Amino acid sequence: MNRRHFLLASTGLAALGTGFLVRPPGEFLSARDLPGRRRLQMPARLDTRASGRLELTAMEGRSNFLGHGETLTTGFNQSYLGPTIIMREGPLGANVRNTLNRAVTAHWHGLLVPGEHDGGPHLPIPQGEFWKPDLEIAQPPSTAWYHTHIHGATAQQVYSGLAGVIQLTDGRDDQRGLPSDYGVDDLTLVLQDRRFDGSGRMVYDVDMMDVMHGFTGDTMMVNGQVDTVAAVPKGIVRLRLVNGSNARIYRLYFDDGRPMHLVATDGGYLDTPVVLERLRLAPGERAELLVDFSDGAMPVLMSDGDPNQGPGGMMGRIRGLVDTIIDRSFPVLPFVQDDSLPVRITRLPEALGGPMPNLAGPRTAARRFSLDMGAGGMMGRGMMGRRGRGMMGGFAINGRPFDMQRIDLEIARGSVERWIVSTSMLAHPFHIHGALFQVVSDNGRAPRPENTGWKDTVLVDGTTELLVRFDMPASRETPFMYHCHILEHEDAGMMGQFAVS
Ligand code: C2O
Ligand code: CU
Ligand code: CU
Repeated sequence: MNRRHFLLASTGLAALGTGFLVRPPGEFLSARDLPGRRRLQMPARLDTRASGRLELTAMEGRSNFLGHGETLTTGFNQSYLGPTIIMREGPLGANVRNTLNRAVTAHWHGLLVPGEHDGGPHLPIPQGEFWKPDLEIAQPPSTAWYHTHIHGATAQQVYSGLAGVIQLTDGRDDQRGLPSDYGVDDLTLVLQDRRFDGSGRMVYDVDMMDVMHGFTGDTMMVNGQVDTVAAVPKGIVRLRLVNGSNARIYRLYFDDGRPMHLVATDGGYLDTPVVLERLRLAPGERAELLVDFSDGAMPVLMSDGDPNQGPGGMMGRIRGLVDTIIDRSFPVLPFVQDDSLPVRITRLPEALGGPMPNLAGPRTAARRFSLDMGAGGMMGRGMMGRRGRGMMGGFAINGRPFDMQRIDLEIARGSVERWIVSTSMLAHPFHIHGALFQVVSDNGRAPRPENTGWKDTVLVDGTTELLVRFDMPASRETPFMYHCHILEHEDAGMMGQFAVS
């Protein structure tokens, strides 16, 4: 009996391996049998292309994720998460209002805008106020996202819902042969894992182990929905994956082994699709896949366990071994066919025309970054340190915990720099604001296939070498950040900041 048969054989809410809840899709023969509430919904769409205006309001709301038990949540323009913002190149006048009783920010993760418009920790929108950055969008099409970024509170605030997706488009996807019918053959999938208490309320109760390993949940949520099924046409479908989890690292694959064709990474299209059997997606990363559903089958998108969690979590060397002994894989999202949906694309495009990064050139001086978790690790005194907002010390980059008052680097605008990032404990997704980079090497080898395009976030497990191009200016008052995108690590001090001029 393979995993799929196991899924089909189980009935009702089946707790699998790690306690992930999913109802097997096998009980539905087609989308017609799928109850409306089980059908995955796309985030609302906010198309800014005609108006050149973007209105977002951070607000509180009540969410009922499990069908019983309400949670007080937050979102942009709605009670949890925010709309998918469709934008194109050109001026975009944004207005972000904050109706919450605490400061938030609106960071545009993946947009290349100057530091004063970036929405980082130096740009809080106080309670009851608004922020009006005049954005100028000038970069190739991509899937980006936005989220709050208050230092020390990012993890809790994002967890409670302050995040959403951005689709930057040039309207030429038909020419590229790419699916672009929102919610039909072009699916936006925000992956988040959450915890719930006995009364069905979503909870964020971090203890020291959660800070150490990053906070993970036992219930999978896609677009803020639990236990849903994606209905797709019998053709080629585009999946825009956004890892909006606080800490969980996914390694995605289909249970029937069907290939996933990677067409875009953080910074936009690849030149040609890359076939993957598994896709590693760390917090903050995006990937666009094409998947062929024309066979009419009902595959399940699965993930391997998070290498940072579980018994092998702290001991990098035996992590792989643990995973072969204990199967920690879990279902992320089942798919069913919906014959009523139009089939628009039946062939994979040969080329996408994305400009591949090629930053090699005059040798730039290298900067080294070590992502530190403290010499004592979990056993040491670092745990009880006074830094890191009282949670624990030791989280730092190059030995220095984040300090809002300290500019760590001054970078020349227009330069390309070699950044060598290394870890000694756990794997950390390293993110840079206001810049795109090329992964040059990963532990001395060529980058993984999913890291060959333009990136703004990359999972570092050992030593990863990057070439980073700094085109956007940032003053000392509103510097750019670089940090681990495990939000508990970021809040605890694994972050630095830089000015560009
Ligand atoms: Cu996605 Cu500094 O953030
Ligand atoms: Cu960012
Ligand atoms: Cu980290």
